[in-house]
Amino acid sequence: MKQLLFENQASCQPSSTWKRCHIITFGCQMNEYDSLKMMQMLRHEYILSDTPENADLILINTCSIREKAEHKLYSLLGRLRPLKQKNPALRIGVTGCVAQQLGKKLLHRAPFVDMVLGPHGIYSLPNMLERIGCGETALVETKLYHSFQIPYIKAPLTESSNVRAFVTIMQGCDNFCTYCIVPFVRGRETSRPVNQILAEIDSLVEQGVKDITLLGQNVNSYGRNLAEGVNFPALLHAIASSYPNIRLRFTTSHPKDLSDSLIECFSRIPAVCEHLHLPVQAGANRILKRMNRKYDIESYIEKVQKLRETCPDISLTTDIIVGFPGETDEDFQETLDLLKKIRFDQIFAFRYSERPGTAAARFTDQVPEETRKKRLAKVIELQNRIGLEQLKRYENKVMECLVENGSGMKLQARTRGNHVVNLTGSEHLIGRTLNIYIEKACHHSLKGRIVN
Ligand code: SAH
Ligand code: SF4
Ligand code: F3S
Repeated sequence: MKQLLFENQASCQPSSTWKRCHIITFGCQMNEYDSLKMMQMLRHEYILSDTPENADLILINTCSIREKAEHKLYSLLGRLRPLKQKNPALRIGVTGCVAQQLGKKLLHRAPFVDMVLGPHGIYSLPNMLERIGCGETALVETKLYHSFQIPYIKAPLTESSNVRAFVTIMQGCDNFCTYCIVPFVRGRETSRPVNQILAEIDSLVEQGVKDITLLGQNVNSYGRNLAEGVNFPALLHAIASSYPNIRLRFTTSHPKDLSDSLIECFSRIPAVCEHLHLPVQAGANRILKRMNRKYDIESYIEKVQKLRETCPDISLTTDIIVGFPGETDEDFQETLDLLKKIRFDQIFAFRYSERPGTAAARFTDQVPEETRKKRLAKVIELQNRIGLEQLKRYENKVMECLVENGSGMKLQARTRGNHVVNLTGSEHLIGRTLNIYIEKACHHSLKGRIVN
């Protein structure tokens, strides 16, 4: 669970008549982005509250990628219920992917919820609150549109650290990997027009943002539905030529659509950082086929080789699912072998979780939960060793790091390869790019000191 802690917005004068909103965000970076957009839409009426206790509005922005997330939502709602009993004027909204999936059903289980808004429905939030103010109850908005829904909102950033920001460039997904709920809850793939993306980046850069991550479920297929004839490499070139001094990142890239011209961007565009998240999911071709991933392991390895030839410093991360239906010990061994062969900097490993309505949930050869757990532990154990060895290659080197946040002389910076570096220094260095000497590699982070 991630809670966004916003400050009072600098451009607004808080007054005693302001209402308080508490936002709780589960799930991926897209949800973090959507939570920020909701707060920006409410900025003329609400300030952020960091606890639910004194809030006038509580928004829970949900994720349904794995089963646990729904359980978390229901237990959270159970904890919030007494607040509503104490204060009937409190409004509670459930938004995001679980909201989309459950719609009205959510209101049956939790009738004290005032509104249920899917990922496209969140843009009607101010209107919904107005309707609730006029006495309406139990509002549900789960329509998914075939056009890009995110409006360009010119509003101050509200996070305490303004150094990094996300920009959504696409919505939805058309890939229908057999395990995945995203195409059902986020709708069809649509790309955001280039001028909107540039306008949003412009506003972020003006506010001091120095590191921008472009978001989409499959950024490599950016532009497919746009009349403008711009593909993803062309978008990267356009952004970098307007803002050559920012750090530019993007996620997620689908291996089947990773083109040579995108690989070349890592050497041709200095703004593009040397990091790629390229989810492989499994090491056995049989499993990849059943997952409907549309690449085989040989072509994945070939793309990694090309990436490393083009950009020797590139850091690579991936997602792995263990215990997908039908995965045998031999198939699983191929995943372990792949991790040893590629040596990712970091992985995000998940136990397969059946999602309602997906093709894989109907497969009859589900792997026992115990086996899924054991496999996950094995993958994590192996990667912990590889990840640390990979990080050790930076020891005793000087690296260009952007200081992102910190307090009390403890600073956190980031390398271009997306590694976190802990160091000592004063808070006024936040936002500065410094040369940092890497003293030690730890699990999942580096320890360094500023070079004079
Ligand atoms: N669009 C991205 C990933 C979106 S979801 C991509 O295609 O890579 C993030 C990750 O969650 C996925 O990469 C996958 O590893 C994991 N995931 C998705 N559905 C899952 C499920 N049903 N069970 C377990 N993990 C899942
Ligand atoms: Fe899910 Fe596959 Fe789409 Fe990623 S590409 S969001 S894993 S369906
Ligand atoms: Fe979760 Fe929806 Fe993101 S299901 S991972 S919040 S797209």
